[in-house]
Amino acid sequence: MKNLVVLTGAGISAESGIKTFRDADGLWEGYDVMEVASPQGWKKNKELVLDFYNQRRRQLLKVFPNKAHYALAKLEAHFKVDIITQNIDDLHERAGSSNVTHLHGELLKVRSTFNEKVILDWKDDLKVGDSCEHNSQLRPHIVWFGEMVPMLDVAIEKVSKADILLIIGTSMQVYPAAGLIDFIQANTPIYFVDPKPNVKPSENLKIYAEKAVTGVPKLVKDLEKYSKH
Ligand code: APR
Repeated sequence: MKNLVVLTGAGISAESGIKTFRDADGLWEGYDVMEVASPQGWKKNKELVLDFYNQRRRQLLKVFPNKAHYALAKLEAHFKVDIITQNIDDLHERAGSSNVTHLHGELLKVRSTFNEKVILDWKDDLKVGDSCEHNSQLRPHIVWFGEMVPMLDVAIEKVSKADILLIIGTSMQVYPAAGLIDFIQANTPIYFVDPKPNVKPSENLKIYAEKAVTGVPKLVKDLEKYSKH
């Protein structure tokens, strides 16, 4: 089976009701990103940061995967699929995808501020005073701006072995995630799904200039035909 790697961003979850970051009504409205998604913000006001993620976690528990998530899960019948997502939601997993790498962490996990390897599943609100077995404050298991991306090497390894690369619903503006495209082998076919694509079509790059809920099922049908050759 060919290796198919999928790089997804906030756009794939838009139709599930989770706002993207850089569209007009971006998620950060009302919040300065550096106040709620940076180590400095955490140091300055833990309650504000915890409240921001508590709101996002409550919302996530009320939304569902959409047709794009489910279509990607179907690809596992035809390809060895690795999903590398910048999203912190669990919608790929809930849609049935079995190999999901979260570059920016996971909203339904928290970790110790004493030992970052102590990671717990967490679906409730997280409050100041909620602590780990070392009695240190728990924090969202999310990569904040300015922090290292621990899964980057894993992602680079997967992209470098891709026979096909799909890029769905990401503005490709945040590094190092956006830099993953530089690690594909020459002539690897790339399929880009975004209603406002900020890339130019080229010989190896095919664009589906539409929302993921319609573009991804179309793309999956095209790829299923391709896999039969
Ligand atoms: N279907 C597909 N794509 C969509 C849809 C949709 N329905 N709606 C919007 N998009 C596209 C937008 O055109 C844009 O290109 O999704 C992309 C969303 O881009 P961003 O909001 O920048 O989100 P993303 O690329 O995931 O941001 C990367 O930045 O803020 C940080 O850590 C955060 O993981 C996030 C990272």
